[in-house]
Amino acid sequence: MKKISIAIDGPAGAGKSTIAKRVAKQLNYIYVDTGAMYRSMALACLRAGLDLNDEEKVSELCSGLDVTLRHENGEQIILLNGENVNRWIRTQEVGNATSVIAVYSKVREKLVKLQRQLAKQENIVMDGRDIGSCVLPNADVKIYLTASARVRAERRCKELLERGEEADIDVVERDIIDRDYRDMHREISPLVQAEDAVMVDASDMTIEMVTDRILEIVYAG
Ligand code: DC
Repeated sequence: MKKISIAIDGPAGAGKSTIAKRVAKQLNYIYVDTGAMYRSMALACLRAGLDLNDEEKVSELCSGLDVTLRHENGEQIILLNGENVNRWIRTQEVGNATSVIAVYSKVREKLVKLQRQLAKQENIVMDGRDIGSCVLPNADVKIYLTASARVRAERRCKELLERGEEADIDVVERDIIDRDYRDMHREISPLVQAEDAVMVDASDMTIEMVTDRILEIVYAG
């Protein structure tokens, strides 16, 4: 039977993973966080002490990595060569490294293949940057979730502080703007709103409001 896929794309910090998780739970679908896949590869590069601008070295290392997903109680667990790396991939350092290596074609090809395989096997809600535009162009529903850079920086700061990391709102906002720019201007699979995606601007919406809006779009489709 054909599996149903819901693509949620948008810039960093728009709340994609929180919302995608909730939508997946409501629908009893599997949630796939593609950013975590790219983050795990960046973590491997940082651990290996690679120069992230060295595309050849980064591509070589990433080609040999084994990235797999497991799901426990609706949570995605990312396994890097068999090791659960969930707790290591959410730092600002890994986030910044990820947007550098995510532009490399070898890195993307490997993960896009894995993401397409997952979508064939399960009903999924998949979030990322290029899901509706490239990974799953035939997704049943496509959402482009965004929010202003300041609102996104405020949320990211709150998350970082909760985890005991230092956070300066202006630095985080600057990082977000830089990351948006890199994500939107890279040559391969830049962050764009797919033509048939519905835009949801979450700047002034609560998590519940955004979840309900997306479910409304899913049921209407
Ligand atoms: O959503 P996130 O913050 O976990 O994503 C981390 C980085 O990974 C982000 O800078 C862009 C990149 N990414 C990507 O290029 N393509 C995806 N499908 C998901 C994330």
